[in-house]
Amino acid sequence: MAELICGQVLDIAGDPFTGPPEEAATVHGAILIEDGRIAALGTAADLRAAHPQARVTDLGRAVILPGFVDAHMHYPQTGMIASWGKRLIDWLNTYTFPEEMKFGDPAYACAQADLTLDLALANGTTTLASFCTIHPESVDAVFAAAASRGMAMVAGKTCMDRNAPEGLRDTAQSAHDDSKRLLEAWHGRGRARYAITPRFSPTSTPEQLEALGALWAAHPDCPMQTHLSEQRDEVAWVAELFPDARDYLDTYETHGLLGAGGLYGHAIHLTARERDRLREVGGALIHCPTSNTFIGSGLFDMGARVAEGQLVGLATDTGGGSSFSMLRVMAATYEIGQLTGTPLHPAQLLWLATTGSARSLRMADEIGTLAVGSVADLVALDPASTTAIAQRSERADDIWEALFPTIMMGDERAVAGVWVAGDRVTGS
Ligand code: GUN
Ligand code: ZN
Repeated sequence: MAELICGQVLDIAGDPFTGPPEEAATVHGAILIEDGRIAALGTAADLRAAHPQARVTDLGRAVILPGFVDAHMHYPQTGMIASWGKRLIDWLNTYTFPEEMKFGDPAYACAQADLTLDLALANGTTTLASFCTIHPESVDAVFAAAASRGMAMVAGKTCMDRNAPEGLRDTAQSAHDDSKRLLEAWHGRGRARYAITPRFSPTSTPEQLEALGALWAAHPDCPMQTHLSEQRDEVAWVAELFPDARDYLDTYETHGLLGAGGLYGHAIHLTARERDRLREVGGALIHCPTSNTFIGSGLFDMGARVAEGQLVGLATDTGGGSSFSMLRVMAATYEIGQLTGTPLHPAQLLWLATTGSARSLRMADEIGTLAVGSVADLVALDPASTTAIAQRSERADDIWEALFPTIMMGDERAVAGVWVAGDRVTGS
């Protein structure tokens, strides 16, 4: 059955980085969902008249957007989010690896996958790209959890064959073979997409990177996700481990792990050569601002990266990031933009959290926009969800000023409704 949702339907169809940001957007009065897809945008009166059979949901002043797309996170780290006092490598060894050890147990993996996807949906995130653990069971768990919720999901077995504890190491061969088997089982099944997932160069031997590069070459439509240049200590360690590499990116490039569909988490401390190569091949830089501040990694220069033509997405990076909310991620993106000299417009922040992330995942024809024909994965935001936010948005002169307090101060209380493939899953 068709559903007509009335509210402030905010369609950022243009690119808010190439002209005046507000001109990239149009506000419609209603959006029509049919057969799980976006069927029309228009005035409420016109769409009601043309579709008298449609069930009407009137959300008043709520702002309706594509569901948020979290382009880099770790569902197995939900249980150790907000762990105190360590920088990247110590944080991995102290908190992350012991927790990831538990995911050989399918029951535990399923429970954490269910919990994480429910937290994401409560925060208006309808698609995630998640790392799993080295255990194939952890991949099955998250794809099953996503399928049961109708969600588009990107995930893959996290491969590590060195610099990780016993119990969390595979080998070059087993990483390749397990990934291939999981890819064949899940990629393209319903809304699942398999991501080839070397954790990062310090935890893979050159042989493992090579094996995963070969797998990607055989399945170029799969995404490939990893980490790149997050902390300066890590960059120095990579230089020691790969003495012949020109730079960190080269450790991926020489093993077939640089290309379109590559998702490079963090990508903060890049050389000019690395930036040139990422732009040339169309690899995506995934900005994880709440993680970068929490773990103390550094300031990603969004203004410079967008100006030089990079593809950029946004992500929570939970549990390095300390929030499941893409609103919080947008707020941190704004704050880091201020620290690096580029105050980002709300249209740019919202576009990055939807279309930018969807383009990074090469899924923008399905999610991340309000284009007719896209899957109806939607979020409705209440622009007056708390007293503090309401008193500010009441004084606003336009939709941007009305919405910006929710971007900066909002949390899941601002999420008035979430639709996955046309079905309302929260807020009804
Ligand atoms: N680098 C390698 N693994 C990780 C991880 O799990 N989280 C973050 N933030 N960085 C990483
Ligand atoms: Zn990460």
